[in-house]
Parts: sequence; C-alpha cells; structure tokens
Amino acid sequence: MHFNLETIVAWAKRRGFAYPGSDIYGGLANAWDLGPYGAQLHKHIVDAWWRYFIQERDDMVGLDAAILMNPRVWEASGHIASFSDPLVDCKKCKARERADKLIEDNGGDTPEARTFEEQYRYLVEHHVTCPECGASDWTEPKHFNLMFKTQQGVIDGEGKDIYLRPETAQGIFVNFKNILDTTRVRIPFGIGQIGKSFRNEITPGNFMFRVREFEQMEIEYFVENDITVGLQWLQTWKEISEQWRIEQIGIKKEKLRFREHDPKELAFYSKGTWDVEYEFPRGWGELQGIAYRTDYDLKQHQEFSGKDLQYTDPMTGKRYLPHCIEPSWGLTRAILTAMIDAYDEEEYLNQKGEKETRVVARFHPNIAPVKYAILPLVKKDEVQVQLGKELFHKLSKLYSCEYDDNGAIGKRYRRQDEIWTPFCITIDQQSVEEYHATPESVTVTVRERDSMEQKRVLISDLFLSLGYL
Ligand code: GLY
Repeated sequence: MHFNLETIVAWAKRRGFAYPGSDIYGGLANAWDLGPYGAQLHKHIVDAWWRYFIQERDDMVGLDAAILMNPRVWEASGHIASFSDPLVDCKKCKARERADKLIEDNGGDTPEARTFEEQYRYLVEHHVTCPECGASDWTEPKHFNLMFKTQQGVIDGEGKDIYLRPETAQGIFVNFKNILDTTRVRIPFGIGQIGKSFRNEITPGNFMFRVREFEQMEIEYFVENDITVGLQWLQTWKEISEQWRIEQIGIKKEKLRFREHDPKELAFYSKGTWDVEYEFPRGWGELQGIAYRTDYDLKQHQEFSGKDLQYTDPMTGKRYLPHCIEPSWGLTRAILTAMIDAYDEEEYLNQKGEKETRVVARFHPNIAPVKYAILPLVKKDEVQVQLGKELFHKLSKLYSCEYDDNGAIGKRYRRQDEIWTPFCITIDQQSVEEYHATPESVTVTVRERDSMEQKRVLISDLFLSLGYL
C-alpha cells in the first residue's frame, strides 16, 4: 500500500518518533527532533551499523572526529572551492531554487552532469515554472556554497572563519596517519565513524529527507593502489551494504535500487560511484553513496598538510598512497526510510465486531524501538507488579524495555504491536502461584510478535531462550 508523506509525518509526531524542531515556538523550518521512540530507533540503527561494520569485522576500526576542523581541511578537500549547488532566483516572486532540482522535477535526467549554462538553457527551453508563483523567468545559475560558516574566537568580527563540517569523511582522512601510527591496521582496512554534518541546503524539505543538520555513517576503506583491486572492492562494498540494509535493518528489497553515476556526473578522480536509492513516497531518492575515490583525498591532504601520508607494505616495504572506497550512509535518511518502510495500516475487528483500521509499524527486530514489553496482567496484584518490576530492571540492563501495567491486556498488546515490539512478556496468576511455591520456579508468558506464538518460560531461562536482539 502507498502512504503519503503527510500520513507518516502525522503518525511520527503522534507516536513520539519525530517532532518539529522548536515546536512550541512555531518550529524552525525543516528541523526535526527525535522523540522517545525516534531516539530509540536512531540508537538501534547506529548500534546495528557499528556492530556489523566495526565490531564484527577485524579489518575495521572506529573513529569519532570533531565537527569543527582546521579550515585548511576544506581547502584540501575542495569543499571551499566547489561544494556548491546551482542557485537560481525567480525574477517574479524572488523564490530561491536549485536549478538541478527544477530540471529533475520537470523530468530532465542527470541534471548534475550539465554545466550551469546547459541547466539554464533547459529551464528556458522547457519553460520550467516556479513552484511558488508559476512564472517562468529565472536568473542564470550561480554557485551557492553549502557549508555553514561561523567564527571561532571571542572578539566579534575578529574571529577566524571556520565551518561546520559538511561531511564526516574528511575527519577520517585527516586521521589516517594517526591511525596508521597508533594501531596495527594493515591494507585492506577501513575506518568508520558516525556523526553530525551540516549543509545550508537551498531547498530543504520532504520531512527528514533533506535537512540542514543531519547525521552520516561513513566508512573509508583503504586498499592497494591498483584500479583492478579497487573496482573489486567497490563491488564487494555494494554487496555488503545491501546485506546490511536488507538483513540487519529490514528495508524492503523491492523498494531499493542501485544507480550508477553517469560518466559526466562522476567526479574526475572517481573510478566509479553508485547511489543506492529508495522509493520514498515522493519518488526515488538517495539513501547511500558508494564511491571509489582512488587516492584523491589522501593526495590532497598530503599536499596541503605537508605530511607524508603513505602506507608502507610490511611484506614488501613498498610505500604508496592507498586507494579508497567510500560507502556513505545518511543516518537521518535511514531513520526516515525505516519509518516509511515499516509503516502499514491493517483492518481488524474491534470488540464490537466492527471493522476498524489500525497502524502497525513493522520494524525489523534489530531496530524496533522497544525490544521487550513487560506486562503484569493485574496492576493491583502486588506480586505481579513486583515480579514485573524486577524483570524490567534486569532486562533493561541489556535491552530497551517498556513496563506497562495500564489498561486491558488486549489494549497493551495493541500498543506494542503498533510499534512492532518483538516480545511481550506477561506475568499472570500462574506466575504468582509459582512464586509462592518456589520463587526460583516462576514462569512468564512470552508472546513473539511475528508468529503471535505464546510460550511459558522460566524467568531464570529468559535470558537464554529469548535470543539476541
Ligand atoms: N562523503 C560523502 C558525502 O558526504 O556525501
């Protein structure tokens, strides 16, 4: 079933996944705050990513670089000179738009591959209209740098210009030498990090799809300086990334596609770049980029910093600048995608036997905001409450849990089903009787979300029998 974005935005607010930023002040355009369930979803995606790509691999190390960096970094990376979008103004209503987006929305393909002059010609020849006022009278495109500039220092106007980082990737390249010098990594190996990035987008929007403050999960994977080897690793990273998306966070395969960059769209140093796109309610959009960047970044930083960034092969003694594959995920987009992908509505019969529609967000168990709900059947039963609270305190040391003793049990199951909690644990009268007989023999009911199967399990066996989440 197709759900429009407004439906997802309204549900995300209602259920505490995402609120408009600074809401009580009327919001700040295109800023979003993650609510309690959204924050849990975020944490679980981060955990799933870190576990899969860093913790479980012996060829990867993690990093957490600072957001503020020496401005020379952005000179070396090319961001100061060319990290810009083509800005056009509507001469009639003064609306500011991205020429490439206008072309794309008008059915034109690969607008990034067109020069500014070609973009302008397209707008004129196709009479592309302004989304605000409908006129077709544009200024010629000009470069608009997307980096947020600020000042470091205490004296107004005399501080040093610095930037909020527009990507996490450069924090990895500038630490390449530190990591070589302080760890035992050997080519091929990768460095991964997760963190905030900032881009002063001309046309943010589509809920959390294009925002000015967002998070990335990036890997720079360093390999031999040989194009055949690099291209093999590009293919390998396409495959590994797909496995993670589908198996670890459960994004529907049929809603994903790979798109190879057109040679005209490709950066001059790249030997191949793929976007992974998801079918969002308003069309296909980028979720991840996988780029073979050769030795471009290390070469630039070696030149600008004057530091030798070469790697020495321990077997042959050969010194070289490694090539690099960059699988780069938008974490904020991954959260958005997980919500859109999980959201569903189904019909059911209410207690009066009438058909009603309810929302179910079918999250993969790895990322479901709540992993275990602990539900004492009768709130007034002191032993049930005591056992429930004890269990909550034990399980919540390892997993995200919710304790809920409020309302009829059917309603409480429904609340958990709506956010697709994988396991509901119910403490009932039998648990109380067992507690009075021998406290070590207490059992509880475990209801597994997908199969709806209910099992009685000894509390002492819970940790062994529930499996890993
Ligand atoms: N480092 C790639 C990107 O930020 O898109």
